[in-house]
Amino acid sequence: MSKAFKRTLVTSALPYANGEIHLGHLAGAYLPADIFVRYLRQRKEDVLYICGSDEHGVSILISANKEGVTPKEIIDRYHNSNKMAFERVGMSFDNYSRTSLDIHHETAQEFFTEFHKKDVLESKVEDQLYDEKAKMFLPDRFVIGTCPHCGYERAYGDQCENCSKYYKQTELVNPKSLLTDETPVVKSGTQWYYPLGKYQKQLEEFVESHKKDWKENVYGQVQSWLKAGLSDRPISRDMTWGIPIPLPESEGKVLYVWFEAVLGYISSTKEWASQQGNPEDWKRYWCDEDTRYLAFIGKDNIVFHCVMFPSMLMEKGDYVLPENVPANEFLNLEGRKFSKSQNWSITLNEFLDRFEPDPLRYALATNMPETKDSDFYWKDFQARNNNELADILGNFVNRTLHFTRKNFDGKIPEATSVDPADTAFIDELKKEVAKIEVSYNRFRFREAVASTMNLARISNKYFNDQEPWKALKTDKDRCGTTLHYCIKAIAAMAVYFEPVIPFSVQKLWKMLDLPDASGYTWQNALDTELPSGNELGEMVLLFPKIEDDAIDAEMAKLGGNDDEPARDYPPIGEQITIDDVFKLDLRVGTILEAERIPKSNKLLKIQVDIGMEKRQLVAGIGKAYKPDAIVGKQIIVVANLKPAMLFGVESQGMLLAASLDDEGPTLVTPIEHMPNGSTVK
Ligand code: MF3
Ligand code: ZN
Repeated sequence: MSKAFKRTLVTSALPYANGEIHLGHLAGAYLPADIFVRYLRQRKEDVLYICGSDEHGVSILISANKEGVTPKEIIDRYHNSNKMAFERVGMSFDNYSRTSLDIHHETAQEFFTEFHKKDVLESKVEDQLYDEKAKMFLPDRFVIGTCPHCGYERAYGDQCENCSKYYKQTELVNPKSLLTDETPVVKSGTQWYYPLGKYQKQLEEFVESHKKDWKENVYGQVQSWLKAGLSDRPISRDMTWGIPIPLPESEGKVLYVWFEAVLGYISSTKEWASQQGNPEDWKRYWCDEDTRYLAFIGKDNIVFHCVMFPSMLMEKGDYVLPENVPANEFLNLEGRKFSKSQNWSITLNEFLDRFEPDPLRYALATNMPETKDSDFYWKDFQARNNNELADILGNFVNRTLHFTRKNFDGKIPEATSVDPADTAFIDELKKEVAKIEVSYNRFRFREAVASTMNLARISNKYFNDQEPWKALKTDKDRCGTTLHYCIKAIAAMAVYFEPVIPFSVQKLWKMLDLPDASGYTWQNALDTELPSGNELGEMVLLFPKIEDDAIDAEMAKLGGNDDEPARDYPPIGEQITIDDVFKLDLRVGTILEAERIPKSNKLLKIQVDIGMEKRQLVAGIGKAYKPDAIVGKQIIVVANLKPAMLFGVESQGMLLAASLDDEGPTLVTPIEHMPNGSTVK
C-alpha cells in the first residue's frame, strides 16, 4: 500500500473505566501511538489523535457491584484518574472522550437504527443462561465456567482468556453466575444479531490487501478467524447499564459493549470537532479516502478492530477502514503477569508520583512488546535512565553547553573554520535519522528509539575526536566551530527525541533559547542555520540519576501483603464419604517427557512412569511450566480415571496441581523421593 495520504487519524484502544491504567497498558496501545503521532507532528503532517474511556459493559457493572456503588461512580472515578495519568505521562491526545456522553449514545444508536432499517440485523430467539436467584439473563461477563475448547476453568461466557476462542455462553461447561455463585439455568430469550458472516468475502479482500504491511501477529490472528468462518454475533444484552436499543420492543436491552465501544472513536472525533467550533470537521478524518487510519491496540483486541469494526464501517459506507492495526503483545512485570490482587503491579499514577515521565517513556519504548511479550524490570529502568539518558544524551548536552558558557561567554560560537569532519558528522547524523524514519514507518519502535539514542552516541564521538579542549588553546576558531556543530546537533536532537522524551525536549529548547525554534522540523533540523552569537539559556539537569535505594524500595513493594489481597476462594465442594475417597486410585509417577500441544498455550502432553506402566496425560499447566522444566519431577496421578480425548490427544489419567485465583497451578509432589507406583492415601 503506497497510497499518498493527506492526513492521518490515530486511535488508541479506549480503556475500560473500571481500573487504573498501569505500565502494561501504557506500553501496549498508548505509548507507541503517542510516539508515532508526535513523530508525524514533527514532520508537520496533518494528524489527529483520538482516545477516551470505554464506560459500558459488564466489567463496569461487576466493579460497581463489588464495591457497592453505582456504575456512574466507578466510571467517573476511573475516567478522571486515567485521564490525569495519561496527561502526566505526556499522551498528546487531541481529544480524550468518554462513551457515556450523549454524543456517543447518539452515534451508536444511529448505527444500530440504520442497520435495523436496512434489514441487516436479525432478531433471534435463543437459549441463554438465566440466574433464577437474581432473576435475570446473564450477560457474558457475568458467567464463568470451563472453556469448551481448552478446558480453562475461569473462562467467561463469550470468550476464553486462555485460548482467546469465542463461543456461545451455553457451551460453557459447569457455568456459574458471578452475581450469585449459583448455577444458571438455560432459558430462551430474544436477541439482536449482527450478520458478521455476510462480510466474509469483503473482509478477506480487505485483510489480504494488507498482507504485506500488517504485523505478522495481527495478520495471522485475523487469518485464522477468517479461515474458521465468520458467523452471526449477538449485539444486544439484557442489562440496564449501557446504550439502550432504540426500539420499543427491545426495552430493557442495551447494545453489546463491543458493538458500540469501537464507535467511540468516531464520537470522540465528533466531540473534538465541536470543541474546535467546526462540528462537521470530523468527517474530514473518517469519511475521506485521503485519510490514513491507524488503530493502535493490545493483542486481545485484534478481532474487534480487524473484523467487527471494519465490517460495520463497510456496512455504513463512506467510512475509511483501518490502514494498519499495530497491535502489541503484553508487557509483564519482573517476569510475572501484572496482577492487582497479588500486588504485582504498579499503576501509572503511582509510578509518576515517584519518577519522571520521560525515563519511563524511554525505558518502555526500548523494550516494547512489539513482536513478543516483554518485561519491565526496575533495574533496567534505572540503567536506561542512568547509563543512556543521563550518560549519553545528558552528558553530551551538558559538556557542550557547559564548555560554551565557560569559554565563549554562553553565546553560540561562529562556524568560521569548517572541516570535512564537521560535514561528515552532520551526514552521519542524517543517515541515522533516515534509519529512524524507516523504523517508525514500519512501526518498529524499539529500533527507532535505539537509532535515536545513536544520534547522541555519534555526537559524543565527534566531541571526543575533535578535542575542543585542546583546540581551545591552539586554534580557538576551530574550537568554536566544533562547538557550533555540537549545538546544531543538540537542536536537531530536540526534534528527533521529541516523540520519545517530550518533557526533556522542552527543557532542551529552553536551554538553547533559540529565537526561531518553532521553524525546526523533522526534515530540516540538520540543515537549519544556527544564529551565531545568540545567548544560550539557563542550564538545567536533564536526567538526575536514579539511586539504588529508590529502585530497591520499589522492588520490595512487589508481591508484599501490605493489604491482604481479596482472594476469590472457590466454595468447598459437596460432602463425600470415605468410600468416595477410596474410589480414587492415586499413584506416584515420574515425568519422562513433556511437550506442548500445538495451538494451545495451556496444555502439555506428558509421559509419566507410574511403576507398572507408562501413561500419557494431557494437563493444563503449560502456562506455569516450560516442558523441559518438569521432566524428572515426581507427581501424583489419578490412575483409575477413564481416558478422554483433549485437543485430539488421549489423556490416560490426571495429575494433581494446586491453584488459587491467578496463582499456580503448581504441581503436587511427594516431598521425598518414592518408588513410582506408590499409592497415595
Ligand atoms: N475497553 C477495551 C479494553 O480495554 C478496549 C475497547 S477498544 C474500543 O480491552 F475500540 F472498543 F473502544
Ligand atoms: Zn479456552
